[in-house]
Amino acid sequence: MTRPITIQTLNERRSTGQPFSCLTAYDATMATLAGEAGIEVLLIGDSLGMVLQGHASTLPVTLDDMIYHTRCVARADTACLIMADLPFMTNTTTTQTLRAAGLLMQSGAHVIKIEGEAWLAETVTALAHRGVPVCVHMGLTPQSVNALGGYRVQGRDTGRADAMLEAAMTLEQAGASAILLECVPRALAARIREALAVPVIGIGAGPDVDGQILVMHDMLGATTGRPPKFVKNFMAESDSISDAFRAYHEAVTTRRFPAPEHCF
Ligand code: KIV
Repeated sequence: MTRPITIQTLNERRSTGQPFSCLTAYDATMATLAGEAGIEVLLIGDSLGMVLQGHASTLPVTLDDMIYHTRCVARADTACLIMADLPFMTNTTTTQTLRAAGLLMQSGAHVIKIEGEAWLAETVTALAHRGVPVCVHMGLTPQSVNALGGYRVQGRDTGRADAMLEAAMTLEQAGASAILLECVPRALAARIREALAVPVIGIGAGPDVDGQILVMHDMLGATTGRPPKFVKNFMAESDSISDAFRAYHEAVTTRRFPAPEHCF
């Protein structure tokens, strides 16, 4: 039997310098194929609001939606580590956050991902104390698209970059098990990774981190509209979805993805 991937596995990968691959998944069939391809982490991302439900952003996604898709993915027979997103406005108080995270864990998640920065420190500690591993999603946080003024690269200027580095260190101190960086300059991601001991996962953050993640629909060439710069269509040179998943896993673990053209 394949050994289940755990947070400890990701820590080992970090310390041995072996990158790991992560992919969003929303249903049992795709989760099974991704697991068979060797992908280590499956994220039930609130991107499902856009790629499955047809919304213009992730804001309309509810906790019930996340629970439903987490249960679907968790039913797949895989060794993958399952991470689930806390959707928009389900973390307004510690009590609400603990309840929402508890329901996602009971639905099959092993790790909870929350968007935010240093202000999340108390919440991260409250979850960690109760046995919930937390991955904090920083940089371009899609739930804040209205505040950010669009889906843009974050941390280009020195002040913002320094603040993000500081925040990542605070969150690690607070008990975060991993940090996910979306759409940040490669050099900033490398600085943050260097300053931390926990695994750092990147999407549009360059190759100098521990793991890579993509939205499944994007890497299968099923993006509606123009795909972001950091996306590679792995279906373009594959005969099947399983082949595309294997190609992605192989490209990440051999550090051939992301290439310079996918970086900021
Ligand atoms: O919701 C999602 O799919 C995500 C990824 C972009 C990392 O958060």
